Amino acid sequence: MLILGLETSCDETGVAVFDSERGLLSHRLYSQIAVHAEYGGVVPELASRDHVRKALPLINEALADAGHTVHDLDGIAYTQGPGLVGALLVGASLGRSLAWGLDIPAVGVHHMEGHLLAPMLEENRPDFPFVALLVSGGHTQLVQVAGIGEYTLLGESLDDAAGEAFDKAAKMMGLPYPGGPELSKLAEQGDDKRFIFPRPMTNRPGLDFSFSGLKTAARTAILEQAVDGVLAQQTKADISACFQAAVVDTLAIKCKRALKQTGLKNLVIAGGVGANTLLRQQLTEMTQKLGGQVFYPRPEFCTDNGAMIAYAGCQRLMAGQTAGLSLGVVPRWPMTELSPIKGNNEDQGDLS
Ligand code: KG4
Ligand code: ZN
Repeated sequence: MLILGLETSCDETGVAVFDSERGLLSHRLYSQIAVHAEYGGVVPELASRDHVRKALPLINEALADAGHTVHDLDGIAYTQGPGLVGALLVGASLGRSLAWGLDIPAVGVHHMEGHLLAPMLEENRPDFPFVALLVSGGHTQLVQVAGIGEYTLLGESLDDAAGEAFDKAAKMMGLPYPGGPELSKLAEQGDDKRFIFPRPMTNRPGLDFSFSGLKTAARTAILEQAVDGVLAQQTKADISACFQAAVVDTLAIKCKRALKQTGLKNLVIAGGVGANTLLRQQLTEMTQKLGGQVFYPRPEFCTDNGAMIAYAGCQRLMAGQTAGLSLGVVPRWPMTELSPIKGNNEDQGDLS
C-alpha cells in the first residue's frame, strides 16, 4: 500500500511517501521558523497561510523523490488533530480532496499517535506492549501502549508541557524561537550545579507532571542574576544547564516509576523534546539499569514530520479505517479516544 502523509498541525509542513512493503520512500519538511521568529512564537493565521503555499510543492517533490506520481497512491493520511484549527484544515482539506479526486481512501491521523509510532520507522523497533513518554510543545504524557490505538494514560502535565517550559525559559533569557533546541545547545557550556532548581512532583506518588514551579525558579534566578536587565552569557548557559537537568531528571524519575508500576521493560520516547540529547542519554541509562530498552526515532522524526503521519495512517488504512467525506479536524483530542486496530474494521467516520 503506497501512502502519502501530510502533517500541518502547527508550524511545520511535513510530507512523506510510505510503502507498507518497502518502508519510507521519501519525506520533505519545511519549517516555518523564519515566519514566526520575529513574533517569538507561532502566529496561527500565518501558519495556515504558509502551509497553503508549501504543501503542494512539497508533495510534488516527495513523490518525485520516491519515483511515483499521485496516480500510484493507494491512500492519503493527514493530521486531523490535535493542533491549530486553521493549520489542520489546510492538510485535511488538501488530503481529503486529493483522495476524493483520485478515488482512493483518506484517513485522519491523531498527531500524538503519529509521534508515538514514529520509532516504528527505525530499524530497531519496539514490540508491544511498552510505556511511551510523549514530550512535545503541547503535550507531556506517559502512556501505556498495548497495541496501536490501545492507550492507557498513566500521567500527564497538569500545566505546561515540557517543550513549552523549555520554550518559555528560553524566551525569558532572550533566546531565539523556538527556544528548546537553543536552550539545550547553550546548556552544553553551562554548569548544571550552579543553581538549585526543583524536580517538581517527584517526591510524592503518581505519574503526573507540573513544570510551572520550575519555570518560576528559572525566572527568579534570571531576575536575581541580571545586572541592569542583562544576563552574562555564562549565567545564561548555567541557568540553561540547570533548567535542562531539572526537566530531564523529572522526566526520567517519572519514566522509571511508570516502568516499575506497569512491570514493562521497554520505553519509547517521542515528540520534539525527545530530540534532546541529555534526555536520550539519561533514559537510555535508566532503562538499561532496569534491564529494559529504550526506543526513539531519529532526532528529525522526534519533531513534527510527515513520515510519522504516513506510517500511522498506513496502519489504520490497512485495517480498513477511513475518514468519511465530510471534513472534520479536532483541535483538542485525547489520544485515549482512538479505536484499536486489532480486529477493528469499523469506518472511522467523521470524527469532528
Ligand atoms: O513535537 P514537536 O515538534 O511539536 C509539537 O507537537 O508540539 O515539539 C516541539 C517542541 C518545542 O517546544 C521545542 O522547543 C521542543 O519540542 N524541542 C526541544 C528540542 N528540540 C525540540 N526541547 C529540548 N531540547 C531539544 N533538543
Ligand atoms: Zn508534534
